[in-house]
Amino acid sequence: MEKIKIIMDLDVGLDDAIAMCLALGNERFDVLGFTTTYGNRHVDVTTKNTLKILELLGRTDIPVARGSVRPIVAPYDPPYKSIVHGHDGLGDSANPLPEPTIKEIDISAVEFMARTLRESEEPITIVAVGPLTNVATLIMTHPELMPKVKELAIMGGSTLKGNRNPVAEANIVMDPEAAHIVFKSGLKIKMAGLDATWKGYIGFDEIEEFGNTNWLTKTIYDMLGIYIEHYRDRIKNPGLAMHDSLPLAWLLNPELVESEDLYVTVDINGRYTYGMTVTDVNRILNEKPTAQVALGVKREEFIQLIKDAMAKLAAEKK
Ligand code: BDR
Ligand code: CA
Repeated sequence: MEKIKIIMDLDVGLDDAIAMCLALGNERFDVLGFTTTYGNRHVDVTTKNTLKILELLGRTDIPVARGSVRPIVAPYDPPYKSIVHGHDGLGDSANPLPEPTIKEIDISAVEFMARTLRESEEPITIVAVGPLTNVATLIMTHPELMPKVKELAIMGGSTLKGNRNPVAEANIVMDPEAAHIVFKSGLKIKMAGLDATWKGYIGFDEIEEFGNTNWLTKTIYDMLGIYIEHYRDRIKNPGLAMHDSLPLAWLLNPELVESEDLYVTVDINGRYTYGMTVTDVNRILNEKPTAQVALGVKREEFIQLIKDAMAKLAAEKK
């Protein structure tokens, strides 16, 4: 089967770390590189975390390029003052991962994306699961490369309910102006937002069994304490949302996700709705759709993809 060539832009982050496992543990993906952004934590921390996860997985061959340090206009305000992902972005575990011995490459995230697109004979998919600052900068600085972007699959947004304010999702509200540029770009966009990602959870009743499956799920489980608390006590979800894995799973199997093609724009002026992905679910504006919007997911099959990828990675590196 044809490989899906991706560049993954992320702000590792617990669910980002799990998404890295799905990207690297599913043989259909050809991961050309990871690019980092501020988001869950400062970009120094998210870059280091990306390197730590690559060392953990024994995939130090994959390049990592450091990206944006802050949003275009909005001030950088780390989400929830660190209670979701921990101060170290990886759950402040009692057994933290060792400091990385590898380093990021010496060009920026946007330069890496541009170079990779330019040199590739085939179009490449960008999977973005943090604030969209790097992607917006790429769009603004390299319009000539846009035909080389096969599609953009993001974790971000929602049709109505937010997780950072009543109506805005964290990745979008951290840099609404960047997201606005992205949704106006004309790129083919898959928007895996909260409507679907909250439904794509590992249940609290399944998480211990997940943790006992192999050395990798155990290592990840040991980091998830505060993430479990967050979903159980604050979000009151039936389990832990695997947000950042959803755009990847959607690329692997479009049947997994229920979606509609809808007009989405990002509010950059609202007093209460700044950073909202205003989604014309009822097609009132009669505008051309700007994104394929995920509304639901076949949860069990989705979680199985993550488990299978982790089992493969665990078997490859004992
Ligand atoms: C998104 O925000 C971050 O906390 C997660 O990593 C995910 O990308 C969910 O709103
Ligand atoms: Ca993320």
